Amino acid sequence: MLRPAITIFLISLLPTRYTLAQQPVNPYSYHIQKKTTVTHGAVVSAHPLASQVGVSILRQGGNAVDAAIATQLALAVVYPAAGNIGGGGFCVAHLAKSPAATHKPGTAKTASPAGKDIAIDFREKAPAAATRDMYLDANGNPQPNLSVNGHLAAGVPGTVAGIFSEYKYARLPFAKLIQPAIDLAENGFVITAAEARDLNSSQGAFKNYNTVQPVFVKGAAWKAGDTLIQKDLAATLRRIRDQGAKGFYEGQTAQLILQEMKRGKGIITAADLKDYTAKERQPTIFPYKDYTIVTMPLPSSGEVVLRQMMKMVETQPLASYGFESVKAVHLMTEVERLAYADRAQYLGDRDFYSVPVDQLTSRAYLQTRMKEIPADKAGASKDVRAGVLSPKSEETTHLDVIDAAGNAVSITTTLNGGYGCKVVVAGAGFLLNNEMDDFSIKPGVPNMYGALGTEANAIVPGKRMLSSMTPTIVLDKGKVYLVVGTPGGTTITTSVFQTLVDILDFQMDADNAVNQPKFHHQWMPDVVYVEPGFPAATRDSLKVMGYNVAQRGSIGRTEVIRVLPGSQFQAEAVGDSRGDDTAEGY
Ligand code: GLY
Repeated sequence: MLRPAITIFLISLLPTRYTLAQQPVNPYSYHIQKKTTVTHGAVVSAHPLASQVGVSILRQGGNAVDAAIATQLALAVVYPAAGNIGGGGFCVAHLAKSPAATHKPGTAKTASPAGKDIAIDFREKAPAAATRDMYLDANGNPQPNLSVNGHLAAGVPGTVAGIFSEYKYARLPFAKLIQPAIDLAENGFVITAAEARDLNSSQGAFKNYNTVQPVFVKGAAWKAGDTLIQKDLAATLRRIRDQGAKGFYEGQTAQLILQEMKRGKGIITAADLKDYTAKERQPTIFPYKDYTIVTMPLPSSGEVVLRQMMKMVETQPLASYGFESVKAVHLMTEVERLAYADRAQYLGDRDFYSVPVDQLTSRAYLQTRMKEIPADKAGASKDVRAGVLSPKSEETTHLDVIDAAGNAVSITTTLNGGYGCKVVVAGAGFLLNNEMDDFSIKPGVPNMYGALGTEANAIVPGKRMLSSMTPTIVLDKGKVYLVVGTPGGTTITTSVFQTLVDILDFQMDADNAVNQPKFHHQWMPDVVYVEPGFPAATRDSLKVMGYNVAQRGSIGRTEVIRVLPGSQFQAEAVGDSRGDDTAEGY
């Protein structure tokens, strides 16, 4: 589906062009670009200014990791609904062969000559004072609002620790990477129509859950072209620039978090903050046909759910069924149902709970599971349980970066719901996450995405909550072919799954794979959700087969970079039309 790049010019409010760190990023006049073809490097993210900041870093000689860090920090300013320093996320990266392309001279870490795939876990953790039943009342009834809104909903933030873990693989001075974000916060930027709409829809929540009114609260309604200035956030970013991770987890920023916790009866302590560390984990790597999929391990459910879905459809002639044909949607929906039933039963933080990953992803197990798929009719979730093993055992945001040296970074980061728990740390200017809701607050009680869980994902102090975030890179003969990811709560894994098979099986270009309507099934509730524009004939046939089909709003905001064939580096980068997402590059 080729559509022209959507270009929205915001009216410049200031007569002079403002220059960020000597780079031509104008926060008062910018446009949304959906697609670009590049020969040097590309950045796709949820906001045009963040994408432009990333490209400015590539142009200054930064590698994909440098650009990803700068983009991530800029998103924390220009996309406060999900970009963050008060949340967490995952980073998957492929570092190409050349050490010179990926490492600062003189640093101890060197890239393997064969290239290297890395996975960095900066997921939030349950505070030490968290308890398994902290969101139940005296009668054992769930109080879901407590895990969603307000101070008690926040997990210990991981993003800043994650950024410094990523920085080991960067090349430029950190001050250069963070300065655009500081400038955007200090001097402001004009907001888009979508941002104005989102800020307006959360005014009541900001007023309810904050102890000190944040800059996001405004007397009159926000409108496109208004300038958002965040001085407190700029000061916090400067402390991070000058003191590193300690500028967030200790000192003044930590004190401001603790004071906020005290005013709002939150439970995050100085020790929780000081003890937080990001973890570099072994990425999940598995073959799919002639490709190699590199994705995030637990606590991303992608390690199991994406792998199960891909390996189950790999055995079938999916491409011959046709894109969004009844046969293809039936197969893909049924594998989604099976994988999400296993997710609910078995998945959680493996640092705390033994997850039987090998069994869940074994060929024999998946073959047995495939036998549960009824031919020519809908399965029924009430009859589908997690597989039996032999004893032993939405608001988020994504960014992709690639550089001409073959380094690629795929980062999904989140506050969980839009604007997280709605609490801005007074004096520090950043929003806290509501990631505690990604735990199972009680078996059988759905979280805000309708996901169920059990013991595997119960709350334990210091444990990381299960996530759907699935930043992914596809390699073709050891070189980056695709960089993919999306926000969307539980729809993340199915959106990544569909985007991969759309490109790898249905041979779509990146634009179509991103923008064609998606569908989603997560076992419970037993509904196939389809986006507007999903083919009516397929939908009608699915109903005849017994599926409960419901149209919902948009699914995900998928970003894709696809390397094009040829001896010289060339790539297409596509930002999702479902939001302000922008692809930039040169
Ligand atoms: N907060 C969404 C996720 O991690 O799945």
